[in-house]
Amino acid sequence: MSIKEYMTHDHRECDNLYAPLEEALNGGDFEKALELFVPFKEAMLRHFAMEEEVLFPKMEEFIGSGEGPIYVMKMEHAQIKSIIDQLGEAIEKRDQQKALGLGETFMIMTQQHNMKEEQILYNMAEQLPMDKEAILQQMKEVKA
Ligand SMILES: [Fe+2]
Ligand SMILES: [Fe+2]
Repeated sequence: MSIKEYMTHDHRECDNLYAPLEEALNGGDFEKALELFVPFKEAMLRHFAMEEEVLFPKMEEFIGSGEGPIYVMKMEHAQIKSIIDQLGEAIEKRDQQKALGLGETFMIMTQQHNMKEEQILYNMAEQLPMDKEAILQQMKEVKA
């Protein structure tokens, strides 16, 4: 499996953990939402960690750091993490309106972010002369 395949698949897994959470919020089931929020957040943080701790630093060895595409991806991670935290707070306060609004924002930002990675960044990773097997292995070992 390539880095692109693995990470694209992981994007879908995160989507799949978000969908039932949104459903619970739509139905006003906060007990369920609180329960579903935990594995969803964990999967998102783990995905970001795989990128920020393993993939991005490796890529930066070849393309440099600075304000390029990786910098933009990391900024977006920070924004998405902040939305996730605010979503968690809204769920704890049982504020359905706010939680649904934040969920909507989360979805839009994440879909745009993932698209950029799947169409540009992961392809760049595949083309760099790095040990992709080793990177994939290291990413799989990352904990949230
Ligand atoms: Fe990302
Ligand atoms: Fe990603």
